[in-house]
Amino acid sequence: MPRFDVAVLAASELDSRKKGFLSVRKWRRRFLILDKTWAVRSRYSNGLKCSEQQTINRALSPFGALMENDFGQIIGKSKPLRDVLEVAKKVAPTQATVLITGESGSGKELIAHGIHAHSDRHDKLFLPVNCGALPETLLESLLFGHMKGSFTGAFANQEGLFEKARGGTIFLDEIGEIPQHLQVKLLRALEAKEILPIGCTTPRRIDVRVLAATNRDLKKEVELGRFRDDLYYRLNVMEIHIPPLRERPEDIPMLIEYLIQKHNPELKRNFKGAQPPVVRALMSLPWKGNVRELDNVIEHIMILADGEWITLNDMPPALLNSDETVPPFTPDLKEAVMQFEKQHIVRVLDQVGQDRKEAAKLLDISLSSLYRKLEELGIS
Ligand SMILES: Nc1ncnc2c1ncn2[C@@H]1O[C@H](COP(=O)(O)OP(=O)(O)OP(=O)(O)O)[C@@H](O)[C@H]1O
Ligand SMILES: [Mg+2]
Repeated sequence: MPRFDVAVLAASELDSRKKGFLSVRKWRRRFLILDKTWAVRSRYSNGLKCSEQQTINRALSPFGALMENDFGQIIGKSKPLRDVLEVAKKVAPTQATVLITGESGSGKELIAHGIHAHSDRHDKLFLPVNCGALPETLLESLLFGHMKGSFTGAFANQEGLFEKARGGTIFLDEIGEIPQHLQVKLLRALEAKEILPIGCTTPRRIDVRVLAATNRDLKKEVELGRFRDDLYYRLNVMEIHIPPLRERPEDIPMLIEYLIQKHNPELKRNFKGAQPPVVRALMSLPWKGNVRELDNVIEHIMILADGEWITLNDMPPALLNSDETVPPFTPDLKEAVMQFEKQHIVRVLDQVGQDRKEAAKLLDISLSSLYRKLEELGIS
């Protein structure tokens, strides 16, 4: 384990007991800053390895503190995630509209928030709006506002979020759900920087940065005529795609650590972590619901488990017996190729009801090669 020392450079509102414990110490000449919420503002921790970050988190956990990376509470150090953060950091200080894509639960809102927090609008509002959750008129009124008497129930003038967010950022979640008529209004807001509240005849100037997110394939929506191409191109000045968790399993150990420390105080538990076989098992699951699903599973396990460490016995059996597990991550290419071959052949065999002749045909190899592979790869 690496030696653990933290220098508290800014801890203005910590109580003296905590301050005393974490009095100024050095940690390999790198310094970490704790803020008043006990999150580590680790602008200086970029060079830390996962294991070092985990050690710090564990040591801080009794105090409810967690280590953040330098883009807010976005945990993970995999190459795909680092690439995402790099682009996000570059685009953050600009005024560019950003389209954030990725599966549900992959962290789109977290990235949007990080972009806002790293822009010069950070001290103004960040207003998230779920465009898929409201009927058309309500959404229009919420975004653009309305004038008194413009529709039944409009008892007073109402400012829309585009005006309320002045100087700040509006985050249009599930942008693919926005109805056609509002797509036109949104395009105008983005291009002319003005909006027309319902029932108002004079346009109003707005000063707001727009970030948008979708888990749909918007390009396809454009091809199908459901999403305006001009709006798509206007939103897509910059696209940030967050890869699904199963494509970056290296992030899972750190996320497990982070989630355990996150849930410890709220569940009044004191888990130190998860044992390596648990981590390996969790790394091999497909996580269709991404980090949100992992978060739920960890919380579920923590509610039921006893002891200091989460063990394989604490894992829900349904999870361990899932036939959707993907092979555990291995950096060794030969090993990885073998794992893939095995998984692929098993799938093809399943598809043809274990008919080996048929499988060999589909795989485009001879029957004898298939038998050799079955033996080599240990497929019964
Ligand atoms: N890299 C990460 N580190 C820490 N927490 C994460 C990370 N990615 C996602 N989360 C957490 O997972 C949950 C889902 O993230 P978020 O709401 O940003 O996903 P989303 O892509 O917007 O999902 P949806 O498409 O369903 O709206 C949140 O609780 C978020 O804090
Ligand atoms: Mg979201």
